[in-house]
Formats: sequence, structure tokens, C-alpha cells
Amino acid sequence: MTGTTTGTALGAPAERREGRQKVTGAARYAAEYALPGRTHAWPVPAAVARGRITAVDTSAALALPGVLAVLTHTDAPRLAEPEDGTLAVLQGPAVPHRGWCAALAVAETPEQARAAARAVRVTYDTAPHDAELTEDHPAGYEPEQAGGQPGRAEYGDPVAAFAGAEVRVDVTYRIPPLHNHAMEPHATTAQWDGDRLTLYTSTQGGTTVRSVLARLFRLPEEDVTVVAEHVGGGFGSKGTPRSDVVLAAMAARHTGRPVTLAHPRRSLPTVVGHRAPTVQRLRLGAHPDGRLTALLHEVTTHTSRVKEYVEHAAGVSRVMYATPNLLSSHHVVPLDVPTPSWMRAPGHASGMYALESAVDELAHALGMDPVELRLRNEPEREPVSGRPFSSRHVVECLREGARRFGWAGRDPSPGVRREGPLLIGTGVAAATYPAMVSPSTASAEARPDGTFVVRVNAADIGTGARTVLAQIAADALGVPLDRVRTEVGHTDLPPAPMAADSSGTASWGWAVHEACTRLAAHPEEGPTVRADTTGKADADSPYARHAFGAHFAEAAVDTVTGEIRVRRLLGIFAAGRILNARTAHSQFTGAMIMGLGMALTESSTLDPAFGDFPEADLASYHVPVHADIPDIEADWIDEHDTHLNPMGSKGIGEIGIVGTAAALGNAVHHATGIRFRELPLTPDRIL
Ligand code: MOS
Repeated sequence: MTGTTTGTALGAPAERREGRQKVTGAARYAAEYALPGRTHAWPVPAAVARGRITAVDTSAALALPGVLAVLTHTDAPRLAEPEDGTLAVLQGPAVPHRGWCAALAVAETPEQARAAARAVRVTYDTAPHDAELTEDHPAGYEPEQAGGQPGRAEYGDPVAAFAGAEVRVDVTYRIPPLHNHAMEPHATTAQWDGDRLTLYTSTQGGTTVRSVLARLFRLPEEDVTVVAEHVGGGFGSKGTPRSDVVLAAMAARHTGRPVTLAHPRRSLPTVVGHRAPTVQRLRLGAHPDGRLTALLHEVTTHTSRVKEYVEHAAGVSRVMYATPNLLSSHHVVPLDVPTPSWMRAPGHASGMYALESAVDELAHALGMDPVELRLRNEPEREPVSGRPFSSRHVVECLREGARRFGWAGRDPSPGVRREGPLLIGTGVAAATYPAMVSPSTASAEARPDGTFVVRVNAADIGTGARTVLAQIAADALGVPLDRVRTEVGHTDLPPAPMAADSSGTASWGWAVHEACTRLAAHPEEGPTVRADTTGKADADSPYARHAFGAHFAEAAVDTVTGEIRVRRLLGIFAAGRILNARTAHSQFTGAMIMGLGMALTESSTLDPAFGDFPEADLASYHVPVHADIPDIEADWIDEHDTHLNPMGSKGIGEIGIVGTAAALGNAVHHATGIRFRELPLTPDRIL
């Protein structure tokens, strides 16, 4: 690996501090807090796609052994109205989508709670529902915002420029709904002590859970404690609180006992969000020399009736390529479907699949090498905003990737490399993800024995946050790594933003860096120094700040079975300074594997008749397994960006999935000569 090692702790491949606890089972997760008198809750999912609950018969359930209560919308605690409508559970009879929580059973054991939930009889007044996304749906509209940016960006005269372009590509790509499916389900153990609430919960942001739950239950924030010591993955679905934490707190209030609610796997697809499906039309116009004259990226997607969520897939076209005429727009259709939400690289993973596939189609139409085509369209400044890039090394990623992959001399002809029944091909795609940062607080304490304790309510969702924050601290203090201890995952610690948007380490690390730098320079301010980056980390930047990368893939397509096997995947990233070579490598490859799944196996079918996803377990929702993972390699180029944060780091959690599916799809075209424009590339589509 070429990752940065400075001679201090920063950049070194330090091992995860909690690794041993995790592999020995000593690490405690939210559902594992066996508090005295602890009970278990099990949800009753609504069995209609739209309507109203007219009656809930709980008598049979309450007669079962061990059952303490069945909460319904008539007797559950009343909540303050949440900003996030998905949290308004058991507050009324309306059913906005199939699987919405209709009742909640509470019993001594999980098995008794499950039996009780199945014995609850709910009757409905059913209304007609609509769960089918179409591009010309009459309810569709252009949202004002998509992913925190304007829903539409446009300059020049894109339609006319495209019509007049010498070389044109006009193609539409489709991605189905996808699910995060973290290993640990969404789970909470809740306990009340008078009017004080303690929540052990699986979350990417305990500070957020505290403020949302305090508001819902009308409590002062200091009366809510949130503990999230270990989190078994979230991939965006645990970025904000989900129904498990609200329902567990309600059930504990109602029964006067601690309650654990671990959403059953079958509930997760419906209740925790999904990557919304997209239909993406790309129109690229170019000169014969490859320079773009027009880029139009139009996205149609769905949201629920509960709240507006826009999969901001067209955003990537505002960042990637120089073009004199641009349109990037979104169109969203509210349907009677479960509410979509963040899934790793929201917007970008979907958008770069379509854009980078279309760029490959343009390269083919031009008879130009797809790496060369990208190099010809490098922008000097960020299109749309006109801001200079804080750093942008996508060209270096493409060149280094091409060199390592052995791209030179590639025969561009599709469908000509045969090995018996197999057709072999290679593909490339670029990657991008914004480098974001949020204000955080942190403290650093000097102990009499010469060690240091760094405290910040960060969430370690499997990324190694404890470890990298200790490295940042040791570097700033100028001490060996083993003299620094980190405490994360508890609301008694200094408040911090969530582990999301690939911004956790940048945000928490900035505050840690500041506290430690001050403690080192002014020990007399100690023993504890507290830092708050409000006003620094949230300042608007004059720079466009993004991480970049390039993926190279080789695939073998079986012409008899339709099966695609990936032979090689290589990702090269330019993501600022890499702070831990080991955990960074793990995040890059993990995300690339998720991109492989997006390309080849993962799909949730939103059945329009049913209004829900049939793939409600890991037997039917196919995430890649070891046998699917080929020779996979991730590396990075040294990048020191001085316009980001004191560490010079960007984010690395999400960029690995961005562009992976396009590189694979492009390899499949190179192998077969056929352009498949709908994911996943399963054998039934290939044959
Ligand atoms: Mo990430 S999908 O912003 O948690």
C-alpha cells in the first residue's frame, strides 16, 4: 500500500481497538443489555398497503403466557409530532403503507412476544393503493431540494445543444430499490427511571437520537441517555432514529419494565428505509474529438406518503465533467410505499452508475478509449457552482488504475474474447463523493500517569472510529498511540454529529485535534481541555470539496448459464490524507463489494399489487458472499488537501461503492457486446 505513514500514529495501519471484543463476543450490542426485569417487544405489521385500522382485537394475544401488553394506536403514549413522520408510530389509525406498525406486543421472552404479535387481530378499512413508479406518473413533481441541493440545475441551452451535437447518446438506466441490510438489526433496549429515559440503541448518531427522543417524549435533553457502544453496521439506515427506538421507549413507559425491541429481519425492508429506485435518462452530446457539448441527466424516483425523500442521483453530473450546456434534474412520485432513506453513498451510487455507463456508451460511439474520453472532459472548476476544487485527482486515479490494471493496449472491440463458453471483458468508471464536515465537540484529558483520554460521542459503526480518533489525538499530542484511550458511543460524552455522509472522522477528528493541540501547547489549561468546532467546521467553503476515484473491473460472462463472475476489481482513490491504512483499506474494499452486489445480485422488488418487498430476508436478498469476491484491490494516491480540516482528510466510507456497478456493467458490455441498462445483471436478464 502507498498510504501515508508520517512516522507518528497518523496514517499507520493500527488495528481496531475493539476487534478482540467483537470476535470473542464480549462486545455488547443494543439488544444484549439484559437489564433486570427486561421484557421483549414484537411489532404487528399492517397487512394492507393503504387504509385505516378499524379495530384491534388483543384478547387472544393477552391470554397467551408471558404477555404483558399489546399497545395499539388507542392506548400507546401520545408523542409530540415528529419532524420525521416515520416516527409517528401508534399515533392514529391511518396505514400509509404495508408493514406500518399496527400494534406492538410485549412479553417476558422474545418468543412469547412473537406469538402474541401473531395472535393480534387487526381489521382494516382498505383503500386503493398505488405503488407503481412510472416516468409519466400524474402525481410526480420536481422537488425543490434533492440531497440538500436544489432539485434542478441548468445552464446554457442543453436541449438545443444536444439536438445539434455531432455525436449523441440518449439512454435510460434503471436501478431497483436496494436495502442496507446491516448484520445487526435495528434494535433498542429502553428503560425509564421516573421521567428519565435510557436507550441502548443501534445508531449512527447517539446525539441525534437523544434530541429527537427528548422532543417526542417532551423531556429535557439531559434526561435522555443514549448508549451505542457497538453498532453492527448501518450503511445510512441508522443515521437517524427509526421506529425501534420510539416503540421500545413507548413499551417501557407503558409496562414500567425495561423493553428490548429488535426488529425482526422480515420487518427491516419495510420499516428502516431503502435506496429508492431510479429511472435515469442520460443524454450526452459531444464533438468527434470527445469534448462534451451537452450533458442532460434526468432522474425519476419515488417517495412515500409519509415524507419526501429524494434520491439525488443527478447531483453527480454537476461535479464530474466540463460541458457548456447542462441539465441535472429530479422528478419524484409520492406512492403508497415504505419510506426510502439513505443507503451508502445516497444519490451518488445510483447517479454514477448511470452517468459512468453513459460515458462508456459515448466512448463506444466515438470509437475512443473510455479512460481518454474522461481525461478530455476534466473541468477546471466545479461545473454549476464555478468554484475551484480544493483538490481533484481523478485523472491521477484513472492513470494509476490503468497502469496497475494493465489497461494499455486493451482491444476495445466488444464480444471477441472467448474462453470456451465464457466471454471476457474489462471496464472502467470514475468515482466521486463530497468531502463534508460538521461541527463537533470533544475533550482531551491529561492523566497523572502520563496517559490521555479523549472523549467524543462518536459512533463506531464498524469503521474503527475509536482507533482512528486515538491516532489523531496521539499525533496532535505528540505521544505514542498506546498512551491514548478513546471513549465514544455515550451521550455523557461531548456531543457530536452522526457517522454519516462520510464525514464522521473529519468532524469528530477536527474537535479531537483541536482539544489535543491545545492541551499539548497549554498543559496548564488542563487536565481537561474541551473543544468545539462550531463556526469553523460549518463555515461555507469557497472550494468545491470532493473525494475522487477510479474503478477497473474484469468480468467473465457465461453464455450458457448467464452467470457473471467478477475476475478482478481495482479501486484507486484520492480521498485526502488517509489516517489509518488498515481500516481505510477495509472501508474501500467493503464498499466495492457492496457495489459488486448492486451490479450483480442485489434487488428488492416493490410488488405493485402488494405494496411491499417480497425479498424480506437474506435468503432472497442476495448480498455478495466470499465466493463472489474475486481478486479485489483498493489503494489510494497521496493527497494532502489543506482546505478541509486540520488532518487534511476527506471521507472514505462511501466513495468505494460509487462507480463500481458502472465499471462492472461496462466490463459486461465489453465482454458481450450487449448493453444491459437495468440492474442487477442477473442470469435471467443476460440470457
Ligand atoms: Mo451514510 S448512507 O450518509 O450513513
